[in-house]
Amino acid sequence: MHCTMELTGLILTAICLGMSSVVVGNEVSKHQDRLAGRPSSVSDASLPCLKDLAKKFGIWIGSASNAKHIHDDKEYDQVLAEQFSITTPENACKWTIIRPNEATFNFTNCDYVVATAQGNNQTIRGHNLCWGAHNPAWLDKFDNNSTALRSLLITHISTVGKRYAGRMYSWDVVNGAVLDSPKNGTYLKTNTWYPAVPDYIDLAFKTTHEADSSVKLFYNDYNCEVINAKSDAIYKMLKTMMANSVPLHGFGIQAHFSISHADARHAKKRLSGGHKFASSVPTDWSTVEDNIKRFVDLGLEVHITEMDVSIPSNSQQYLDQQADVYRNMLKACLKYAPKCKSFETWGFVDKYSWKKNDPDYFDASFKPKPCFYAVVDTLNTTHVL
Ligand code: XIL
Repeated sequence: MHCTMELTGLILTAICLGMSSVVVGNEVSKHQDRLAGRPSSVSDASLPCLKDLAKKFGIWIGSASNAKHIHDDKEYDQVLAEQFSITTPENACKWTIIRPNEATFNFTNCDYVVATAQGNNQTIRGHNLCWGAHNPAWLDKFDNNSTALRSLLITHISTVGKRYAGRMYSWDVVNGAVLDSPKNGTYLKTNTWYPAVPDYIDLAFKTTHEADSSVKLFYNDYNCEVINAKSDAIYKMLKTMMANSVPLHGFGIQAHFSISHADARHAKKRLSGGHKFASSVPTDWSTVEDNIKRFVDLGLEVHITEMDVSIPSNSQQYLDQQADVYRNMLKACLKYAPKCKSFETWGFVDKYSWKKNDPDYFDASFKPKPCFYAVVDTLNTTHVL
């Protein structure tokens, strides 16, 4: 089976990208140059294409995409285009990149990743409009200033939402708002927005809907794959929002897993707040299925949004365990396909992962690992319900 790029993808890319310039890191170049230099195939043409295998289930298979790597690494660019039918800009559309200061909106990188995805005929998940972590430092001076924060949130969401109307399939409107261990009715994290703007979650969803009435609105979080105190709190929160007619269409389950706490050390260093951002591997996968089911039963579309599986070392034993985690998570999603509509990883090649514990489908030289073949095999052998 070939995994080659369709011609229409290239033509569309050329039309979308036009002559505009892109700034990634310190480099400036023409999109045109990138296309001209694109080889017809750098990857193994005999490799199965995940996006094609997923079609019979009516779901998308995807990965986060990174502006710098699309720009700098032809192999990355090619595999991203060939393997995946959905993508999420990893950082390019976040506050940190779009808002270098209070007065400026810089859309260069977000536009670039979106145009590349459109050229590849990929569905795009916008990520994200409101997060309590990983915000630009200049926002700190508004700490506890409810009026200013409210107005900044509305302006940001309206501007970004309107700009990408018609191009994003969905937005992660609010990301990671719920505590890891909610207690006694307290379930929201103290962060940039809370408690300064007590209704910030409803406000963010309503403002996104006003900016783009056709984009699907998602709440996205980690450590909520199984039925646990956190996913219970999220379930209650989303149910209440729906009962209050807050526009909401989907729930994104990040699915960052770690085998034997492989990533605790690195993840802590990389993101402020000290959160682990990883779940231990479920011992009983039926609780993952039951969890997906209850959100689907609420009427929500479920996406697996950021899956990766950190391993302590590259031994065959851990590579096989990693493959099993991918297989089981995909099976749980396929059980509710196409209401579980998207299965996405947070990157696809270990050398560029946000984690240093080899959590992705391909090794550093783009060689597919057992977890890639586990996903291929699961797509091939699972019956459409
Ligand atoms: C991460 C990116 O991968 C890193 O490059 C960046 O430094 C920090 O953010 N959950 C999310 C994603 O919702 O936005 C995070 O992405 C990973 C955890």
